[in-house]
Amino acid sequence: MKTEVAIIGGGPSGLLLSQLLNQAGVATVVLERATRDHVLSRIRAGVLEAGTVEMLREAGVGDRMAREGIPHEGCYLTDDDLMVHIDFKELTGSSVMVYGQTEVTADLYNAQDALGATIIHGVEEVVIHDADTDAPYVEYSLDGARKRLDCTYVAGCDGFHGVSRKTIPEAKRREFERVYPFGWLGILSRTKPAHEELIYANSSNGFALASMRSETLSRYYVQVPLTDKVEDWSDERFWTTLKSCLPSEVAEKIETGPSIEKSIAPLRSFVSEPLRWGRLFLVGDAAHIVPPTGAKGLNLAVSDVHYLYQALIDALKKGDTTGIDAYSERALLRIWKAMRFSWQMTTMLHQFDGEDSFAAQMRKATLRHLSQSETARRDLAENYIGLPF
Ligand code: FAD
Ligand code: DHB
Repeated sequence: MKTEVAIIGGGPSGLLLSQLLNQAGVATVVLERATRDHVLSRIRAGVLEAGTVEMLREAGVGDRMAREGIPHEGCYLTDDDLMVHIDFKELTGSSVMVYGQTEVTADLYNAQDALGATIIHGVEEVVIHDADTDAPYVEYSLDGARKRLDCTYVAGCDGFHGVSRKTIPEAKRREFERVYPFGWLGILSRTKPAHEELIYANSSNGFALASMRSETLSRYYVQVPLTDKVEDWSDERFWTTLKSCLPSEVAEKIETGPSIEKSIAPLRSFVSEPLRWGRLFLVGDAAHIVPPTGAKGLNLAVSDVHYLYQALIDALKKGDTTGIDAYSERALLRIWKAMRFSWQMTTMLHQFDGEDSFAAQMRKATLRHLSQSETARRDLAENYIGLPF
């Protein structure tokens, strides 16, 4: 088989890139390890920046999001019972959209089907060959047979554990990493959300986040030690812990119910530089991971696609390679700013094992400062709603 852009990974970044390229008449083949149902059942991000919403509209998948997404003009950061309102609209003139990653991915799959795009599921043992030459190709196994896909460019959209990043020789990449000593235990429940807006809670009992997917579907997280397993957490234990972290006026009124999904995700900051090796480009989680506290993971994947897709079109249609030559540098400038924000939000809101009493006071002082300084709130809001592309 032959194509212009071979895309490894059919998560949000691979699908969005494929959609934007197909719309411009560029041929793509997406190679995805999992089944479509598996990809669609992974409950992950929930908050879309305005720039992400705009990109999804541009990709022709804005309609359902406009109907079912919930615009959010602010959120709360709390410190025990102190509630600090961050009014995005007033501070920045912009807002975010609550619309789950599962929905984004479902819309992209439907749009790809409508365009007749090629997405191959269930591929195994993907190997990228000759990415540093003018004739790269990808080999993979499907139903026991070894296949070959020749291409002009390769987009590595295969997440943190994928093969694309590791294809770049170690001597040609530099990795930066911080692993946090806790994870997030998340649940989904068919209950009314705790509040109209998201609440990021710092408390003497640790971090919690109250989020949502709709008026009747809530998404909650609490910080847990990395050694904890989902089985250690009954629904009852989860609700008790969540309530102990949220301000009492919210906790008293919270509606509880059975969880319909429960999972633990570790927290990590990670960047691999550069994002390009020859004709291979890394996109999204394949190149970088942020702790979820700033809601940046999915949004960063979309901004990478923003920088790459037009660059690939220019290279393939006009022979103009200035965009692809600049991709890594341009994308990394924005990635590092989101890294800083996600790290700062994580440090400001979580209890670290073995921390001294000074650390807790620093969190309290930061939140008190936010409650009293519009300048500090504006800085947070600007970063949360998403820095310009
Ligand atoms: P992915 O979504 O990881 O997609 C990569 C795709 O590549 C997958 O479909 C995978 O099956 C496929 N793949 C992997 N290896 C291969 C291979 N060798 N061959 C072919 N295909 C392959 N962000 C937030 O903002 N908020 C959150 O609450 C949040 N929670 C998260 C929870 C978890 C457990 C994880 C892992 C991430 C979470 N994120 C969250 C981050 C966000 O979901 C990611 O940033 C986003 O999914 C990145 O999209 P992507 O397409 O780059 O990567
Ligand atoms: C959600 C996840 C996040 O990491 C975040 O910062 C906000 C919302 C969510 O899953 O709803």
